[in-house]
Amino acid sequence: MTGRVAGKAALITGAAGGLGQAMAWMLAREGAKVAVTDMNADGARTLADAISAEHPGAAFAFAHDVTEEAAWVSVIDQSVAAMGGLSILVNNAGIGCDFVWSEQDTLENWRRVQAVNVESIMLGCKHAMPHLRASGAASIVNISSVAGLAAAPGMGAYNATKAAVWMYTKTIALEAAKGGWNVRCNSVHPVFIKTPILDPFVAMAGGDEETAHQKLARGIPLKRIGEPDDVAYCVLYLASDESKFVTGAEFKIDGGMLAQ
Ligand SMILES: NC(=O)c1ccc[n+]([C@@H]2O[C@H](COP(=O)([O-])OP(=O)(O)OC[C@H]3O[C@@H](n4cnc5c(N)ncnc54)[C@H](O)[C@@H]3O)[C@@H](O)[C@H]2O)c1
Repeated sequence: MTGRVAGKAALITGAAGGLGQAMAWMLAREGAKVAVTDMNADGARTLADAISAEHPGAAFAFAHDVTEEAAWVSVIDQSVAAMGGLSILVNNAGIGCDFVWSEQDTLENWRRVQAVNVESIMLGCKHAMPHLRASGAASIVNISSVAGLAAAPGMGAYNATKAAVWMYTKTIALEAAKGGWNVRCNSVHPVFIKTPILDPFVAMAGGDEETAHQKLARGIPLKRIGEPDDVAYCVLYLASDESKFVTGAEFKIDGGMLAQ
């Protein structure tokens, strides 16, 4: 541990597994307190217990459906009380899509993806901001995707949500800058990373994870898919004061995919 976020207090959504879990470990290892939240309350608790076993008093777990405004208010209040403040918000919770083309898509499905992937980010930024402003030096990291910067057939709902996250991040960054608050806001755009969100691709490959990952890696110049820590390292940088002059920016974690 080198204490890159020592003294900071982070709330990470969707942290029971996947990328959020890697981010929670990374930030705790580097000295932050972490509130790990997820609609999977047991998973969040298990993670917080494991982190606290290695870093006593560093982790707290909260049941949290990010589509619910009342839950945001309650979870932020509890996190601030547990950690003594809030200086980092990582809006990570998100869901994939069903790979249906637009003519077959339903409004219900569209709204579900919007609620989890976009409305959650508006709610998080809105309700965390007063605490972030009060913290002295704060950072919001919104997890978008390469799918917010480049489209693919059958990914309409997901593409639209991740593009919205990309642009909304800039709005928040500019509002905070104009307000003279020391709150930065940036977006992170991963390509395929080994987490359960890739399960539909594994199912399409007949359950063979290795084959699925190799197929997904074909379009990536580095010829592999990513590890959760590839994203967590970027979040660590953006959460820390090392990135104090960085706001309204997008970070592609994509093995060179969008350089083509
Ligand atoms: N893994 C990838 O390949 C990849 C690529 C690009 C972007 N992303 C983005 O990264 C983020 C994390 O994805 P992941 O790969 O870790 O996925 P994951 O499915 O492994 O984890 C997502 C977590 O979010 C939680 N969650 C889902 N809906 C929720 C809700 N309404 N309220 C609270 N928690 C909820 C789940 O319980 C789960 O723990 C998502 O925003 C995703 O879109 C992932």
